[in-house]
Amino acid sequence: MSSDVPSPTPVVAARDLVKSYPPARRGGTETVVLTGISMTVEPGEFVAIVGPSGSGKSTLLYCLAGLEPPSRGQVLLLGEDPATLLRGRLARLRRSGVGFVFQSFNLIPSLSARENVTLPARLSGRRVRAAEVTAALAAVGLQDRGSHRPGELSGGQQQRVAIARVLAARPRVVFADEPTGALDGATGTAVLGLLTQAAHAGSAVVLVTHDLEAAARADRVIVLRDGAIHGELRTPTAAEIFAAVHGHPAGALR
Ligand SMILES: Nc1ncnc2c1ncn2[C@@H]1O[C@H](COP(=O)(O)OP(=O)(O)O)[C@@H](O)[C@H]1O
Ligand SMILES: [Mg+2]
Repeated sequence: MSSDVPSPTPVVAARDLVKSYPPARRGGTETVVLTGISMTVEPGEFVAIVGPSGSGKSTLLYCLAGLEPPSRGQVLLLGEDPATLLRGRLARLRRSGVGFVFQSFNLIPSLSARENVTLPARLSGRRVRAAEVTAALAAVGLQDRGSHRPGELSGGQQQRVAIARVLAARPRVVFADEPTGALDGATGTAVLGLLTQAAHAGSAVVLVTHDLEAAARADRVIVLRDGAIHGELRTPTAAEIFAAVHGHPAGALR
């Protein structure tokens, strides 16, 4: 192995990340959700995070994205520590380099699909060419829905607007938490295809999902269990991911 090739600066790096929540009541116990996670995401890499419900996937994603402060340890997002950035600089970092796709779409109800797609760029003071927005909407099959508001679109269409918004912003990293959770199979597959496309176009993608077929599209799959990294797989099949999550092959007798 040659060691003189410098590795690129990761877009996300976590070191000994611990997240705990204080007791809800006096005398209650603290909830430790993440027990010491170290991981990196390289530029353009597509990483999936899988694990049983309650294993800490969403919490990890939010900490990596700078939306939740870690209790201990450190996160670097695009080389910056969100915990030490001033609010304004953190907001600028998010607007210019980070895209989010959540299960609940998070579109602005009073804005049209086109306006929702241009919003991040406008907020970061960047001019967006009309053709760019048209192309992003066309990429998600919504070229004829640009003037519709979210309330006039189906769930799948709203999620595709959210993805078009990410595509148009061309962020260095996209965080997605169960983006297909509220979609039917075909629409979910289309949305995953778009995320894969974003990764091929150079955005890193961090995808939290319980859909193992979806996770199998990633370059690397991180398996969480009880708030710790239980395993890591490179370009695995869905069956290999299943075995890593459940500790036995699908359909095996126990
Ligand atoms: N704000 C919070 N306060 C206390 N506990 C929380 C909070 N958010 C999440 N948790 C707990 O952290 C654990 C992991 O949650 P989460 O990250 O949502 O898991 P996953 O996304 O893998 O289903 C759960 O036990 C959940 O109850
Ligand atoms: Mg979750």
